[in-house]
Amino acid sequence: MHVHVADHPLISHKLTVLRDASTDSPTFRRLAEELVTLLAYEATRDVRVEPVTVTTPVAQAEGVRLSSPRPLVVPILRAGLGMLEGMQRLLPTAEVGFLGMIRNEETLVAETYAERLPDDLSGRQCYVLDPMLATGGTLVDAIDFLVRRGADHITAVTLLAAPEGVKHVEEQLADVDVPVTLVTAGLDERLDENGYIVPGLGDAGDRLYG
Ligand code: PRP
Repeated sequence: MHVHVADHPLISHKLTVLRDASTDSPTFRRLAEELVTLLAYEATRDVRVEPVTVTTPVAQAEGVRLSSPRPLVVPILRAGLGMLEGMQRLLPTAEVGFLGMIRNEETLVAETYAERLPDDLSGRQCYVLDPMLATGGTLVDAIDFLVRRGADHITAVTLLAAPEGVKHVEEQLADVDVPVTLVTAGLDERLDENGYIVPGLGDAGDRLYG
């Protein structure tokens, strides 16, 4: 897995405000959206395009347009929903699929309670949205759904990731023949004994919707 930690002063600034426990929910939601739009710019660096010619008021110009089939964006409910609008701002024509997953807070194992993805993802580029990559179990399962349906290019966009989780995803992907990239605003120090990212930003789902 290629890991890209987005290193931009605006991203760091917004992430710092998100981390602050005194930031209220409305501000958290707005900033998360803005942050995702900046991350989306980085995450779509490899989005597939095809050549196209347009006629300007002066002459013909060579350009590009998004290739077909269009990309699929997959927010992981619940917290990933807070990232959807920010992503759609840059990729308004993308199709959206949904995965509902919750991590059992005792076993730290992810359970899937909803799945609404296209049956056939052959040749599709997929963008998975989830604010937190903690143990990595949720992302591994999400990638597995997409690969089994034929996705051939996957980018995960997170606000924060823990080194232990990144390592786990990399190990689990060892036999997966699909390029996977992680774009994250921050790679934190570690996980604590409860599986929380340290220093992190708390429970993203609760801070968005709790
Ligand atoms: C959080 C987070 C990720 C997952 C990360 O969701 O949004 O989906 O945990 O944990 P992992 O990397 O250890 O699997 P949560 O289960 O709290 O659900 P929610 O989005 O509904 O709040």
